[in-house]
Amino acid sequence: MNKQFLYITNWKAYFTFNQAHQWVQKNKTALATLAKNNTIIICPSFDALAIVSPVLQEAGVTVGAQNCSEHAAGAYTGQVLIQSLKEIGCTYCFVGHSEVRAELHETTQQIAIKAVLLLQAGITPIICIGESAKDYEIARGTQVIEEQLAPVLQNIVTQNTTHKTIVIGYEPLWAIGNSSMLPADYLNKQLETIKHIVHTITPSYNTPVLYGGGVNAANIRTFKDNPLLDGVLFGHASTDFQILEKIVLL
Ligand code: PGA
Repeated sequence: MNKQFLYITNWKAYFTFNQAHQWVQKNKTALATLAKNNTIIICPSFDALAIVSPVLQEAGVTVGAQNCSEHAAGAYTGQVLIQSLKEIGCTYCFVGHSEVRAELHETTQQIAIKAVLLLQAGITPIICIGESAKDYEIARGTQVIEEQLAPVLQNIVTQNTTHKTIVIGYEPLWAIGNSSMLPADYLNKQLETIKHIVHTITPSYNTPVLYGGGVNAANIRTFKDNPLLDGVLFGHASTDFQILEKIVLL
């Protein structure tokens, strides 16, 4: 019921083109009811974006992309332009998702470039950061998020973009795809560090901070009750409409 709390879903590559299309057709009416009082952002895979975007928008759901090219246009095989995302109606786009960092070797420098280009196009970047299980074990978690976030925000502030909303997604790698809950005091320490960095580098930006990693219907209340959080990011749980609905309504 809270307009301010953001629900960002990441469909990753769970659906084929046909499955994504069928999912929105089947659930568009119920989605429209859900989106009346809640801010829901769905990020389908590139192949399905153009076909599902108008249906989602019609239902009052905001559309986002899972990645983008760091180039304006040109000979870049396999890449998707920010301008195309804009034409399709995307107003959000992930950068720095841990799966893209790992699989496609996306670097902090590329993330910083993409974040600025997105802001210049009027698209809100969802900047994902998070430490690995190993970094958590050796107590490097805080240092990792500083190293990942500060250079990206620094680049944004240097360019002084007109669009001034940035979403930060804190997603510890060891929580993605499973339901191991972070100790509450550890989560809060990480969130406070993020807020401190944001406050220091980009104080004039509106910067909601979200948690992602294993969010489901059983643990959602913990995150909604956390005053340091402005929303959640979730992947697998968002592919089942009934679970998505529970997460929003619980
Ligand atoms: P998950 O994924 O909800 O399936 O853990 C979250 C994410 O990777 O954004």
